[in-house]
Amino acid sequence: MTLNERLAAYSKLVEDKLLTYIQPAEDKGQGIIFEACRYSAMAGGKRLRPALVLEFCRICGGDQQAALPFACALEMIHTYSLIHDDLPCMDNDDLRRGKPTNHKVYGEATAVLAGDGLLNLAFETASDSANTGVSAETQVKAIRALSRASGMDGMIGGQVLDMAAEETQISLDQLKTLQELKTGALIGVAAQLGCMIGGATEEQTAAALEYARCIGLAFQIQDDILDIEGDEETFGKPIGSDAESGKSTYPSLLGLERCHELVHQLSRQAVDALAPFADAGILPELALSLADRKS
Ligand code: IPE
Ligand code: IPE
Ligand code: MG
Ligand code: MG
Ligand code: MG
Repeated sequence: MTLNERLAAYSKLVEDKLLTYIQPAEDKGQGIIFEACRYSAMAGGKRLRPALVLEFCRICGGDQQAALPFACALEMIHTYSLIHDDLPCMDNDDLRRGKPTNHKVYGEATAVLAGDGLLNLAFETASDSANTGVSAETQVKAIRALSRASGMDGMIGGQVLDMAAEETQISLDQLKTLQELKTGALIGVAAQLGCMIGGATEEQTAAALEYARCIGLAFQIQDDILDIEGDEETFGKPIGSDAESGKSTYPSLLGLERCHELVHQLSRQAVDALAPFADAGILPELALSLADRKS
């Protein structure tokens, strides 16, 4: 399978499963909140994080069906983070995944609740005892890793630093810490979950985490680049949002040319990190493709 074929297959698997999860157990008139969650979850993201969970699991020889609930849980958390990130009190953006943002369609209160709903559903999904193929011990470890990466020592912590960095110039070291939490944590835990469920060796897990560190950083730098140089229709998000809110970003600190170089360098570094895997599947090509991504 080519890179794009495998990514498309993973997206289909995850999207079909997400649709089954984002349904009320019983209709008690609360259907609008499920509709709001499905609106953002099914709006067509790249599904990078679930693809990482599934591919790391696969190359470690693990069971795809065992990894799928965790891949979906992670995508729910990522989608919730985007719904909240777009709110007027945060980045105040009107476009996401090529569609009006959740609050533009459902109003701010429902958008806040849709984010909260997806966050809770993620843990309901990950802790479902019907998840087959993982021991209870691995399941608890995986849920703990997911909680930490999503929380105040992870993504939420990064969002706090991001907000604090508005209208002020921060150092490159501070920006690195911000990125490691804001974007790095969820990409890192994607690799970690795949390794846990796939039964990776310690050496392989360390390699996977280094790969994720490199692509996580490259991914955020490219996101910052596209916020300046991108095309709104292809990117699916407004261009110039960072500058408008006075954010310190990689291009604002290093300039665009240096950022392009860094993305290429980090992608190659990510490929090198995969040495402990005899066959790393689509992961090398995926890392290299991030340097050219336009969406
Ligand atoms: C957007 O993530 C937020 C960042 C961390 C830069 P993605 O670019 O993965 O968003 P989707 O899921 O494809 O919409
Ligand atoms: C936000 O980073 C990433 C999270 C939601 C954690 P950005 O604010 O740069 O993401 P976009 O550009 O809105 O997708
Ligand atoms: Mg933001
Ligand atoms: Mg944003
Ligand atoms: Mg951005």
